[in-house]
Amino acid sequence: MARLVVVSNRVPLPRTKGAASAGGLAVALQSFVAPGTLWFGWSGRVMERTATKPRFVEGGGVTYATLDLGAEDYDRFYVGFANSALWPLLHFRLGLMRYTREDFDGYLAVNAAFADALMPMLRPDDMVWVHDYHLIPFAAALRARGFAGRIGFFLHIPFVPASVLEALPPARDLLRALCAYDVVGFQTRTHLADFLDCARRFTGFTVEGEEVLTDGRRVRAIANPIGIDAAGFARMAARSAGTAYIQRMRESLVGRALAISAERLDYSKGLPNRFEGFARLLARFPNQQRRVSLLQIAARSREDVEEYQTLRRELDRLAGDINGRFSQFDWVPLRYMTQTVARTKLAGLFRIARIGLVTPLRDGMNLVAKEFVAAQDPADPGVLILSRFAGAAEELTEALLVNPYDPDEIAEAMQAALEMPLEERQARHAVLRKAVFEVTSARYCNTFVDALAA
Ligand code: F6P
Repeated sequence: MARLVVVSNRVPLPRTKGAASAGGLAVALQSFVAPGTLWFGWSGRVMERTATKPRFVEGGGVTYATLDLGAEDYDRFYVGFANSALWPLLHFRLGLMRYTREDFDGYLAVNAAFADALMPMLRPDDMVWVHDYHLIPFAAALRARGFAGRIGFFLHIPFVPASVLEALPPARDLLRALCAYDVVGFQTRTHLADFLDCARRFTGFTVEGEEVLTDGRRVRAIANPIGIDAAGFARMAARSAGTAYIQRMRESLVGRALAISAERLDYSKGLPNRFEGFARLLARFPNQQRRVSLLQIAARSREDVEEYQTLRRELDRLAGDINGRFSQFDWVPLRYMTQTVARTKLAGLFRIARIGLVTPLRDGMNLVAKEFVAAQDPADPGVLILSRFAGAAEELTEALLVNPYDPDEIAEAMQAALEMPLEERQARHAVLRKAVFEVTSARYCNTFVDALAA
């Protein structure tokens, strides 16, 4: 059987496994990668210069090979083009997009340096699976160096309509770069349709059904939603609920309902709108005061990108406002923390929560929504409030779906969730649970690898 080579910017090195900031990508793949796999990417370290030779770590039979980035490459590739241009653009935030040609050149240069470093490790029959927006030009870079084997790409974040993508000066280059892969995967059918439309308009290639015909090759585009190890997460949640940590949480709630949100501190997650939604719940439905606490875990992320610093200051202020306005001497409505929380603890917190509040302004998928569902006790489940603009909303239709731009809608959904009778909670949860247990991380990985091998 062909060896699988995974390439992603972040690599879940064995010692960092389980870190909440690793993102859905690492979590979904970790449980899948078989012994013998090679996983290649950035070490997470910034040095004076980008390394030319990788450093190797073994773990569970998997070889992890990582490169340090030089300071200038880190600024142009990671902080610059990937996270100040592509990330906002692909989350529909044109106003936040900062593009420079120098950053784009740095992005191409790092992709080329990664390809240079990986090339000597590749065998002709390897299957290379590349992940996410940092590495769109990676296949073209490998092809230019003579690799002729199968290469697939999966985009973990949204894809946008042509009218949004066209604002990015090198849109055409990136689309042509995507067409250097054999398989290109997206989280939802909407993202897939937008990609095919953009390919038709911008590349000059022919699109036939869900394939792009390039000069002499066929690129297959698929929608393949990412999932979680639902059974594993459910077990972890049930175990965690019995620990001293969760016991302390319960005691601190003194019988009040817990609403929970957990993610990276990122403007795509809609945190200010959510805080405002919670404030409106307390103002419009005052009987909920003292009866509910919102625990917001927003793990600090991408702190070298200016927009993230601005958001953090805004959230500090909003959290202070809400607590100043509504707190009573023995009740603090909003518990806001920016540290990361271990996944085992998170699982237990999800299990005891009455509401899972997942309201991103845009999200490729959002695995927290799926984890919240898996963590619930089916006999007395909590209610998922989910943004219509998360990829997960295409599957989790029995959640209370909200438009996250309307804080009143968030407030009303929280009120409905707090008052929802047990039978309705059970009925909604049963449907959601089925969906989460069906579209697992294993199914996601197998579907992609099968398509790549075909
Ligand atoms: O899962 C989506 C993702 O964008 C990954 O590509 C990324 O590694 C993760 O979120 C966390 O972001 P970062 O690597 O910038 O810390």
